[in-house]
Amino acid sequence: MSKIKRAIRRKRAIKEIDNIKPMSKTYMTIVTLLDNPLISAEELEAELKYDPLATAAILKIANSPYYCRASGQIKTLQMALTLIGNMQLKDISLMKMSESHLKKERGYSERENELHEESIASAVFAKLIAQKISEDQNLAFECALLHDIGKIVLGRILSEAESEIEKILASGKTFDELESEYFGITHQEVGEMLLKKWNFPEEFVKTAGLHHTPYLEPENRLLQIVSLADILVMLSGLSTATDGLYYDADDKITERLGLSEDDMMQIMEQGIADFLELKNVFGSKG
Ligand SMILES: [Fe+2]
Ligand SMILES: [Fe+2]
Repeated sequence: MSKIKRAIRRKRAIKEIDNIKPMSKTYMTIVTLLDNPLISAEELEAELKYDPLATAAILKIANSPYYCRASGQIKTLQMALTLIGNMQLKDISLMKMSESHLKKERGYSERENELHEESIASAVFAKLIAQKISEDQNLAFECALLHDIGKIVLGRILSEAESEIEKILASGKTFDELESEYFGITHQEVGEMLLKKWNFPEEFVKTAGLHHTPYLEPENRLLQIVSLADILVMLSGLSTATDGLYYDADDKITERLGLSEDDMMQIMEQGIADFLELKNVFGSKG
């Protein structure tokens, strides 16, 4: 393909970033507020006062069996803070915040809501891996949740190119190579740009930008966790996305994290069960 065509598509892909509407302001503020471990229910309530739907949505997820064994027990934000804590509430708010964006992706997905479900599955796996190796579970959950956000940008133009894409894939290329060849840019780079634009912390930007090439920063444990979680989503059969089979799996990744085969089996089993619990609260109406 000519360099000029690729350069034009790259430009268009980058321009497309500006067409993605910003994430919900209410949830964005809540996510920032919850970063403070001493946040009070009054402060949260003051912020959510004009958005009863957001409060209801947060409480609905907080009451899912994933967060709360005695479902239906959490009736107020105060109870949520006491029973599940601010960091879990932050995870929940971030899930709600990204939900509509991730649900809209069509270009890479064969099923409706696929990217959204895969992102939740990655988050759940990442949390379990982090727990196993004593890393920050919430940060792992959140970075994994948004690692593929670049797909919402490229997905908008991907569907226009079906026949050309099939041709490139038939020649044995990986999906990253395809994106580079067709768009002159990958969903990793676009994700990095988008999260930077939305002022997300460096860890989010990094993991989105390098999740298919974790060997580039072998010391970055968070990156290895998110990358491995992504592989587990594919291995567990929870993903049927177009690009799923077209990545080179990094076989040194479990070694770098010090995980045995038994650990992996355990994480896989628990992850699938956790994902199914959480998925049920995200109906089509969210
Ligand atoms: Fe990806
Ligand atoms: Fe992914």
